[in-house]
Amino acid sequence: SRTVRRNADGVATVGGLDVTALAEEFGTPAYFLDEDDFRARCRAWKDAFGADADVFYAGKAFLSRAIVRWLNEEGLHLDVCSGGELATALAAGMPAERIALHGNNKSTEEITRAVEAGVGRIVLDSFQEIVRVAHIAERLGRRQRVQIRVTVGVEAHTHEFIATAHEDQKFGIALAGGQAAEAVRHALKLDGLELIGIHSHIGSQIFDMAGFEVSARRVVQLLTEVRDEHGVELPEIDLGGGLGIAYTSDDDPREPHEIAAALGDIVRRECAAAGLAVPRLSVEPGRAIVGPTAFTLYEVGTVKELEGLRTYVSVDGGMSDNIRTALYDAEYSVALVSRTSDAEPMLSRVVGKHCESGDIVVRDAFLPADVAPGDLLAVPATGAYCRSMASNYNHSLRPPVVAVRDGAARVIVRRETEEDLLRLDVG
Ligand code: LLP
Repeated sequence: SRTVRRNADGVATVGGLDVTALAEEFGTPAYFLDEDDFRARCRAWKDAFGADADVFYAGKAFLSRAIVRWLNEEGLHLDVCSGGELATALAAGMPAERIALHGNNKSTEEITRAVEAGVGRIVLDSFQEIVRVAHIAERLGRRQRVQIRVTVGVEAHTHEFIATAHEDQKFGIALAGGQAAEAVRHALKLDGLELIGIHSHIGSQIFDMAGFEVSARRVVQLLTEVRDEHGVELPEIDLGGGLGIAYTSDDDPREPHEIAAALGDIVRRECAAAGLAVPRLSVEPGRAIVGPTAFTLYEVGTVKELEGLRTYVSVDGGMSDNIRTALYDAEYSVALVSRTSDAEPMLSRVVGKHCESGDIVVRDAFLPADVAPGDLLAVPATGAYCRSMASNYNHSLRPPVVAVRDGAARVIVRRETEEDLLRLDVG
């Protein structure tokens, strides 16, 4: 990975700092995030899509005030999906007009705060929400810019829990059966809403471009129907996030410029065929921006060799800082980073310290046979959906996020303390 290198002694370095020193200074487990890499990925997405498109970073992948400031400086927009993400975005100075609010069940309070703040768009996810947002905006004397999220009916090839455009799931309004067209009819009638476009997100950790292409085609098809029925050309489309990243060397991810070219071509071609002006495009990458920029550093506590099976290497974190292996059967790689070793590789399973057998960080990995307590292990590509999905299971303390840049490291999210845990208990 780009973030972790080796110095002449085989000790891993990140941003010119060696991991042993980082572990001493910040403790383990901890996430280390390469700020330059994060910013470079933001720029790659922006450059790939160009001036006629907007890149909304999906905050659910990982959000903090520092991240919001970097996004702001790099000229990205931000997709938030809860009051908490909205509060963080606003607290760190993201201009409201560059924020989009998502979610399949936004509360009245979340909608009200977003409208009051003046967010650039709210993505409507149901018939009830079309009415709800319209009423709130009218009551506040506003006309809220909105998109309607449609489900285009494609099967994205990814884990069931993170595919979102097939029919039998909770998100969006189906194109099938004229549902989405009905939603547009509805939204166009309501004074509180300014319908600016159509949104489609087909899922996450996707490598195959075909799903995105079908999605783009079907969204433009709906724009054509809307033009034919209402004489209105909706000016924007959003094709969501979902571009996969490499967790192991088996994965072969597409680059932002490839997806930009593929989507741009299809949208232009379909619009030309239908005689539509090309709408402004936006996308919402989360994982592809932040995922590869961070790794988790753990310290080995115990090693158990089970004859004929494998070796269990226990680290000082686990499913509380990375639930993805347990939840999605996600695959990760792992490396011994605090020293070199010439020992034979042995089939290992890196497990955490939590009270269940599903607490697996890396299911199958080859680690040197002399791995021992005190060694440091790095698990790359943990920037997305690890800290943001971290929990306090077993009253563990969620690890810090440390940003590394120009040979300097600084905490951007501090480690939790036992006082943090106890603060919530009443009585
Ligand atoms: N836009 C919308 C509307 C979304 O729902 C999502 C992700 C994204 C954008 C960003 O997708 P990305 O580019 O990051 O794939 N916790 C799961 C992933 C859930 C994704 C949810 N929505 C995981 O750890 O794999």
